[in-house]
Amino acid sequence: MREATGYAPGRVNLIGEHTDYNDGLVLPIALELGVTVRAGERDDDLVRLGTDADVGPGAVSYRIGHETPDRSWGDRVRGITAALRDRGIAIGGFTAEIASDLPAGAGLGSSAALAVAVLRALGDLFDLGFGDRDLVDLANAVENGPFVGARAGLLDQLASVYGRPDAGLRIDLRDRSTVMIPLPSDLELAVIDSGTRHAHATSGYNRRRAECEEAGRHLGVASLRDLEGREIFSIIERLVPPLDRRVRHVLTENERVRETVAALQAGDLPRVGTLLDESHRSLRDDYEVSTAELDRLVAVARSDPEVLGARLVGGGFGGSIIALTRRGRALQAAHRVVNEYRGGRLVAVVP
Ligand code: GLA
Repeated sequence: MREATGYAPGRVNLIGEHTDYNDGLVLPIALELGVTVRAGERDDDLVRLGTDADVGPGAVSYRIGHETPDRSWGDRVRGITAALRDRGIAIGGFTAEIASDLPAGAGLGSSAALAVAVLRALGDLFDLGFGDRDLVDLANAVENGPFVGARAGLLDQLASVYGRPDAGLRIDLRDRSTVMIPLPSDLELAVIDSGTRHAHATSGYNRRRAECEEAGRHLGVASLRDLEGREIFSIIERLVPPLDRRVRHVLTENERVRETVAALQAGDLPRVGTLLDESHRSLRDDYEVSTAELDRLVAVARSDPEVLGARLVGGGFGGSIIALTRRGRALQAAHRVVNEYRGGRLVAVVP
């Protein structure tokens, strides 16, 4: 019986949050943490899944063609095998052991990493010939599909498949074009998980996306990116609250991605820090995806003398923050922050 292994990393997004589904700009860095899937062929149509992650149930099984959701993490794999069948891709039963050193639900792209790792393992096991683009599109379709139901953009899948741990990847979602942005040698980021998860994160996320679509309809554009070049005030004065604030976040966040790229290229870390701070304020006040815990964690980080800027990372509604420091300072700063915050934990120092 054949065996195959698939791995996919998580990500931090340096800046460019909630812009991906608005055809905007993002700047992720791949983490050196991720999901590994060891799959083995079976001679029947049974799927048997196990995981070392701290999620219940520890084991899940079902038959190919009988993907009935049970609201557990197993639905993410059910979503994959169902999506393959919908596309006329036939596979048999398999076992899969899923190991992860990436915290789940922490805003670090764990969901996309799981999907890409499973697809890589199955692609190999059943000779499905997936290219990188197939991995991105299939993983995203599963996220958006009935088994997961988060109307996520492509940031996490693109970052997992194309991202690098030692550079930023500027992605323009309008055409998926990418540019590697080297990180200044004295840059370091602490990734700190607040440990909090919001029960309504998915519905909150989907609502934000619907608000952007509603604003676009009202303004007569297919995507908020089409508003670029126009004066922000004259755009948002045509919108009722909260749509005006949502659009202001998206437009200013795209601009912050551009400015961050320029600041990285100039080696201007204080400027990068200021842009991270502004991004957090915009996510908090205009986009309203922060939480009291994330705000407090960012404030504690921001009061550390070594931290040049900090913000929530990922979709928000709980999860993690990033804090920018000079090289060699992130670890100590993160320990001080976690101590003072009295919770949370350091997940990674990047790069
Ligand atoms: C989640 C989604 C991404 C992106 C971010 C916010 O991670 O999966 O598509 O929208 O939130 O930037």
